[in-house]
Amino acid sequence: MVASFSTGPEIMSAEDSERIVIRNALVLTMECDNPHEVESTSAVLLGARKECDIVIENGVITAIGANEAANITGARVIQGKGCVVMPGLVDCHTHPVFAGSRATETVLKAQGLSYEEVASRGGGIVVSMRATRAASVAELKASYLQRARKAVSRGVVAWEAKTGYGLNVEQELRLLQCLYEAHSDSKESKCLPAIAPTVLGPHAASPELHGLDNYIQALIDAIPQFASLSQKYSAAKNIRPLAVDIFLERNYFTREQADRWLSAALQHGLDVHIHADEFSRSGGCETAIALAHRAEQSAQRKRAQGRVLSVDHLQYATDTDLVRLQTLGVMPVILPLTSFFSNIAYVEARKLRSSGVRAAIASDFNPGSAPLNSLWFAGFLALVKGGFSVPEVLTGITSNAAYAMGAEKTHGTLRTGSRANLIMFEGDVPEDFFASPMGDHLKLVIL
Ligand code: NIG
Ligand code: FE
Repeated sequence: MVASFSTGPEIMSAEDSERIVIRNALVLTMECDNPHEVESTSAVLLGARKECDIVIENGVITAIGANEAANITGARVIQGKGCVVMPGLVDCHTHPVFAGSRATETVLKAQGLSYEEVASRGGGIVVSMRATRAASVAELKASYLQRARKAVSRGVVAWEAKTGYGLNVEQELRLLQCLYEAHSDSKESKCLPAIAPTVLGPHAASPELHGLDNYIQALIDAIPQFASLSQKYSAAKNIRPLAVDIFLERNYFTREQADRWLSAALQHGLDVHIHADEFSRSGGCETAIALAHRAEQSAQRKRAQGRVLSVDHLQYATDTDLVRLQTLGVMPVILPLTSFFSNIAYVEARKLRSSGVRAAIASDFNPGSAPLNSLWFAGFLALVKGGFSVPEVLTGITSNAAYAMGAEKTHGTLRTGSRANLIMFEGDVPEDFFASPMGDHLKLVIL
């Protein structure tokens, strides 16, 4: 199946052609030893190969190198001259199941109100909760699918997708079910991003709740239900195992609540993420460090557990936090669109670079704090506002992002033997990624 968009790139499912070859492109494999290195060129750091062919057979990359495709017959041939090929983008933090608009909040924030002030005046997450609860499953699925297709047309081949606008157990289960159903039609799912679903039940307090501790307990009691839903779809190729998340922040959820919810999930074998240290030093990083440390000890005792995959936002994280997290294998995730729309500080690359820490970059796409479904633009902002270098951005939205959603084996790099998830844009050097902020020069997406 070839879905072509009148103004966007060609989108191909690699499974539909027995053999595809791309000829003579600049290929960025993302086999990158140290993206912070400043002496070397971006091309070297990103494992670039000039005038390179890629051979794809039955969805798998079987060769990468000069003249590899010269003698291949019966293949669909794509001319890559004047183009750059790199792994498809991986958006490791999104909130794409919602209804309604919160454009008035964007206006209020532009006029000087903070995200927290908007929320305290009755705006924020509960506004999306009301609209989302009022929408039918069919409506939610349809709008989700449009967003997922849009993400692909902007180069995203895998994304992490959070629930979080249900805010009670029954509604959160309904949103999770929507995500699974949207990805379970095998014809449709071939041209959707691979998905890593995440339950973000503890996102905010809904008005009907009698205390957040009770809500956390109800969510913990429901873990087997969330997990069995995930189990039901575990055979689907492009659906990753389920994870959980929490908004750990003043006026939202506390460290103790985060510790209870995330520990229970880890013990159940689920992976975890944390919205951490965004508006204040709220203990998100410290919680992640403690949990990852315990998970490591359990692993040594050969007790099966989930992994602490990522800590996200991090405006108030310290260098020591970041180094400790890296040692424990937890990926920091930077969300520049949230800084852009909510007028808060950008996390600067300098801070990561000086401590030698790698980070992922994600869109945080959601109806409130980041109403733009574009990882490309998030990478662009990381470059121009966060001071990230070209290799730091490009690894941040591919290989590091894949790690942050537990998909490093299948996404984020180009290697022989791996599944073909890649993009091709017009350009001659890695810097050409930034030729347009939303990726208007993207020509081809192969999933
Ligand atoms: O990641 N920080 C918490 N959650 C979202 C905001 C969601 C919303 O405002 O609807 C975020 O920015
Ligand atoms: Fe978020």
